Amino acid sequence: MPVEPPRLPLAILPTPVHRLERLSEALGVDLWIKRDDLTGFALGGNKGRKLEYLLADALRSGADAVVTCGSCQSNFVRQIGVACRMLGLACGAAVMDLPYEPEFGRPSGRLPRRGGNELIDRLVGVDLRIHPDGSWDELFGHAERLAQEYEATGRRVYRVPVGGSSPLGAYAFYRAGLEVQEQGAFDCVVCPSSSGSTHSGLAYAYAGTATRVIGISCDPEPENLDDLVRLCTGLNDLLGRGKSLDRSSFDLHFDYVGPGYGVLSDGGDGASRLLLDQEGIFLDPVYTAKAFAGLLDLLPGLSGRILFWHTGGLPTLFAETVPTKSG
Ligand SMILES: Cc1ncc(COP(=O)(O)O)c(C=O)c1O
Repeated sequence: MPVEPPRLPLAILPTPVHRLERLSEALGVDLWIKRDDLTGFALGGNKGRKLEYLLADALRSGADAVVTCGSCQSNFVRQIGVACRMLGLACGAAVMDLPYEPEFGRPSGRLPRRGGNELIDRLVGVDLRIHPDGSWDELFGHAERLAQEYEATGRRVYRVPVGGSSPLGAYAFYRAGLEVQEQGAFDCVVCPSSSGSTHSGLAYAYAGTATRVIGISCDPEPENLDDLVRLCTGLNDLLGRGKSLDRSSFDLHFDYVGPGYGVLSDGGDGASRLLLDQEGIFLDPVYTAKAFAGLLDLLPGLSGRILFWHTGGLPTLFAETVPTKSG
């Protein structure tokens, strides 16, 4: 029997699940929501769950500093920054306003930039290294150089991949999948997907059941599917099970990214407006709005009880939104 990974309690769990009564009636469907916007820790969101395991592991490793990366509006950097502050760990983050995949070109449109999550990063003293926009690989290189810079000063660094998407991050969402199974039976679960540990953990938890798990990708890169496979393989090893998931096991949709990662989409704007007007619930523009737009679009092909996984991200609503530089 594998041992549970050590957990540092941070989030308020279980998060609520409730029916979207007005919207269900308006659309003639049975639509529910899982409120991970209400995980509580550091203004809520899906990252609180992952941090419970990642930071327990960081403390176990004897690290005195954590280094990660993301966009300037990263919800993960915000939440890990608060957790590090609380635990007395240094936190460094390499960030860009708009990391992108060169093969898809630099997207243009409205971009949340300063303020929002970035303001909170500064409040809690994250060592925020803002780099000119470039590729995700360049961003990962900046993070590695930051880790080495810290190590050169004698710090013991715990490296955390973008979005907290390691097998431990996926484990947190495997646990979240078990949590929601206790709260009700659903025919379909829809979540936003980016670095992949949310979707992969949920897919693993529901594998072999009749429940369909749909990820709505907030990045255009098809390689995200490989990330899901890799994370599930790592999770499987962690759990010591024989449940392997291949590419065909994942239902990941790329049609709702809009102009690109981090850039607002018209579909997302409309979906946010609908949920707000009908239910008084806010969505963030980078992840949940696009995922909810995807869910609404896919509804005609779905049946039964449908669950939307609200992963939070609301501080981005308070970020300054500017047009991206063209080119
Ligand atoms: C609010 C929010 N929702 C969804 C996601 C996507 O989750 P994951 O990175 O686990 O795919 C993220 C982070 O990337 C996020 O910050």
